[in-house]
Amino acid sequence: MEQFDVVVIGAGAAGMMCAAEAGKRGRSVLILDHADKPGEKIRISGGGRCNFTNLNASPANYISQNPSFCISALRRYTQRDFIALVERYGIAYHEKTLGQLFCDGSSRQIVDLLLNEMKQAGVELRLQASATQVERTNEGFHLQLSNGVVQCRSLVVATGGKSIPKMGATSFGYDLARQFGLNIVETRPALVPLTLEPTMLERLGSLSGVSVDAVVACGKTRFSEAMLFTHRGLSGPSILQISSYWREGSEIVVSMLPGINLFEELRSVRSQNGRQALQTALSAFLPKRLAQLIAETEKGPANLADYSDKHLRRIDEAVNQWRFRPAGSEGYRTAEVTLGGVDTRELDSRTMEVKSVPGLYMIGEVVDVTGWLGGYNFQWAWSSGWCAGQAV
Ligand code: FDA
Repeated sequence: MEQFDVVVIGAGAAGMMCAAEAGKRGRSVLILDHADKPGEKIRISGGGRCNFTNLNASPANYISQNPSFCISALRRYTQRDFIALVERYGIAYHEKTLGQLFCDGSSRQIVDLLLNEMKQAGVELRLQASATQVERTNEGFHLQLSNGVVQCRSLVVATGGKSIPKMGATSFGYDLARQFGLNIVETRPALVPLTLEPTMLERLGSLSGVSVDAVVACGKTRFSEAMLFTHRGLSGPSILQISSYWREGSEIVVSMLPGINLFEELRSVRSQNGRQALQTALSAFLPKRLAQLIAETEKGPANLADYSDKHLRRIDEAVNQWRFRPAGSEGYRTAEVTLGGVDTRELDSRTMEVKSVPGLYMIGEVVDVTGWLGGYNFQWAWSSGWCAGQAV
């Protein structure tokens, strides 16, 4: 039987960071992944450029039943620590928007960075390998692998969330947590496009591909970023962000011209150029196809001069307070992350160790800590992975 100090299951962002750190501390480390390549989600992230962290990452950018759980890990290994690592490897990067840092070249550079860190720390990486059975022993854990048996003192679960099953996402981490009697906060797809009812979709069909800078709100939470009409419903950063807060049946309110009093603008056009058509006036503010659809829906007079104030207010409301209830979301098939996961009350916030099972650690997305869109989820993977790496 093979013996290791540490076995990490899942060679993704969190797992590789943890394995490298544990190896640097002189631990013998085996990292397993059932996929045939490590770090596949890193590779496809950020449109192939990996939004690897966010300059402004702070606990306020994370959703969890226990919002203060992530404070310790984010403080112990910060975005500046990861940026310093990226710089040490000479990887060129840039800030795209809102503090989001992307590689200038390819996300593959981040995977290679982690592989190199692991190699230098003497970590053994085994691909196309997974644990079929895990048992606790007096010395630690006994793992039945697809091709052998392994014994370890510390076991780290870094198998990620449920999103994009065709890329190798499994429920292994949640199942193992349940096996050890841990509570799981209900999981749901997050950072995911929202879908619309067929009748609404039909009405908005001509807008597929149109994008606007919008403020999208659900309850008291709001995001100000681009919104995209799709053939299934709505997407774009502001919708992905709000999807993490939206629940079935609740209403979303969109302002497609934030900061612009469209009523006053239209009134002014009416007084200066009353023969202008509504569609033409709206086109000065909105994408042409959207202006056309709003004008068609209004079925109003030909000239703006013949529109009443009441009518113009209604148009302003349709644009700046568009209220609707999404039919649902596109689900795990396209979700970037999984909300919920292993209940943080089960874990030590400094080390990620399971309080009731010494030697067992849970890191990354499998834990009930979910970041906003914008590099926050990788930062959580680095921070939680690093912390466990110091403790195993
Ligand atoms: P991750 O999913 O990275 O790794 C888990 C690993 O475990 C995988 O390699 C998997 O194969 C393996 N595994 C699963 N089950 C197993 C089993 N039973 N046995 C063995 N191995 C198993 N975030 C961000 O901050 N910036 C970004 O730009 C993006 N972009 C992005 C794009 C897309 C399309 C997606 C789907 C997601 C993102 N994300 C993101 C989110 C980010 O990818 C995610 O939060 C992290 O990868 C989570 O890191 P983990 O290490 O926890 O899981």
